[in-house]
Amino acid sequence: MTHSHSTKPGTAIVTGASSGIGKVYADRLAARGYDLVLVARREERLKDIAADLRQRYGVNADVLVADLSRPDGTAAVADRLSRDASVSLLVNNAGFSALKPLTNTPDPVITDMIGLNVTALTLLSKAALAAFKQRNAGTLVNIGSGAGFAPYPGIPVYGSTKAYVYLFTQSLQGEVEGTAVRVQLVLPGAVVSEGWDVAGGADLDPLPESIVMTTEDCVDAALAGLDQGERVTAPSLHDDASLRDYEGLTGRLLQSMFDGRPAARYRVGS
Ligand SMILES: NC(=O)c1ccc[n+]([C@@H]2O[C@H](COP(=O)([O-])OP(=O)(O)OC[C@H]3O[C@@H](n4cnc5c(N)ncnc54)[C@H](OP(=O)(O)O)[C@@H]3O)[C@@H](O)[C@H]2O)c1
Repeated sequence: MTHSHSTKPGTAIVTGASSGIGKVYADRLAARGYDLVLVARREERLKDIAADLRQRYGVNADVLVADLSRPDGTAAVADRLSRDASVSLLVNNAGFSALKPLTNTPDPVITDMIGLNVTALTLLSKAALAAFKQRNAGTLVNIGSGAGFAPYPGIPVYGSTKAYVYLFTQSLQGEVEGTAVRVQLVLPGAVVSEGWDVAGGADLDPLPESIVMTTEDCVDAALAGLDQGERVTAPSLHDDASLRDYEGLTGRLLQSMFDGRPAARYRVGS
């Protein structure tokens, strides 16, 4: 018997592995020895990526074709999470944006975006944590966005889905406290990917190079944050104290909302 089995990191499921940030996660995790389950809708791309990972890193790489804005697609991935005890990492990365004011955004785009960015991420987080808590092992990585911090013109629904990811993922960190299960929230800034074209940005001027990060730098920084035990990793945020200040402020704001008396400025006529 060799010890290699016990030292293998297990299987990583990466959603949205057919391009952009997810594709780089798949590469970096394979390089770390993870077997992969690659999830997205474009089967040919996933097959090519899986073959490449097997060849370059000698890992197993499965393809799971699923539309995560639909309940059956999400259920297929949740099923894998609950049945496959080798899964030790889930990267909830699949997501998309539309650069449009709300009234110009078609209803199906809105429902698909909420279905993918919010509903699928929530249900897959649940399936992953249920399995991980039972084994007292495993890591959940949710990809949020800097766009979830404050309203940004042209992305009313996208920014709000990412605000959800921010609150939701930090709430889960409370649920795993005291266990060996880890939950990391990753907040990319602007990253060069096909996601910009999907959002409709191809028709606009390209973003200035100085504000846009490569997918490789984004994922390498996110994994460095994970290795350092960070709960929230913002690859492009140089002043990390501002993130702690924000968390401190919002935490105090939440506490100060619990008061039965209307604030003095609303005590009209009394
Ligand atoms: N790029 C940025 O500036 C930026 C900034 C902050 C956060 N993020 C977040 O990072 C994540 C990855 O984005 P990216 O920039 O890498 O975009 P991307 O290159 O467009 O990749 C998106 C991935 O999600 C998959 N996907 C889209 N719709 C899906 C669906 N219905 N079901 C299953 N998979 C689906 C796509 O594959 P298929 O089309 O093959 O399904 C693709 O693999 C997203 O959550 C995004 O919000 C990006």
